[in-house]
Amino acid sequence: MNVFVAPSLLAADFTSIGDALRRIDGSGAEWVHLDVMDGHFVPNLSFGAKMVADIRTRTKLPLDVHLMIEHPERSVEQYIKAGADYITFHIEALVHAHRLVQQVHAAGLGCGIALVPSTPVSAVEHLLGDVDLVLVMTVDPGFGGQALIPQCVDKVQRFSELRTQRGARFLLSADGGVNGDTAGALRAAGVNVLVSGSEFFRSSDPAHVVLQLRGQQVA
Ligand code: DX5
Ligand code: ZN
Repeated sequence: MNVFVAPSLLAADFTSIGDALRRIDGSGAEWVHLDVMDGHFVPNLSFGAKMVADIRTRTKLPLDVHLMIEHPERSVEQYIKAGADYITFHIEALVHAHRLVQQVHAAGLGCGIALVPSTPVSAVEHLLGDVDLVLVMTVDPGFGGQALIPQCVDKVQRFSELRTQRGARFLLSADGGVNGDTAGALRAAGVNVLVSGSEFFRSSDPAHVVLQLRGQQVA
């Protein structure tokens, strides 16, 4: 299965979001990953639906909105209206997950389910036939620039096996600490979407980072 790259805007300079989007557009990356943080579910605040709506007007790439917020059911409509293509919420953040998946699907968007490193695979097994994306957090969420927790690679592998066993079709995404050193193991484990914040935005050659993360030959 193909592997593609979703740069995370969290690592960009927030005073120059237009430049950051041009960097992503010019790099060959396939998606834009948008980390929405509420200061409660994670100990950090980032941005909300207005930012997503404004970004929608500046790029044609799919917007992969990662909601790290409590009670995502209360504000999901705002992100739907803002023009998200995929909305991913955390299984730890709400009780009635299946209902929210249906709501996102009814609006015509892709729906993802995310889980933090301390949450077992079994917590989302019942949703695997319904969701379009499983986002495996490979760090404790809240901040960019952290080191990948190695045990999380096994979790990606387990989801990949379950997908095959069940004939499910979800994309498998890894988020946190993804870089040239860790991407190979994630690809071998069956990942499809590599979220990259600091590696992508720190580089002087973002197109090179995209090729490297995909495991393609770099000249
Ligand atoms: C972390 C976010 C990530 C983050 C990744 O809570 O969900 O998307 O921006 O950043 P890096 O690639 O720097 O680990
Ligand atoms: Zn994220």
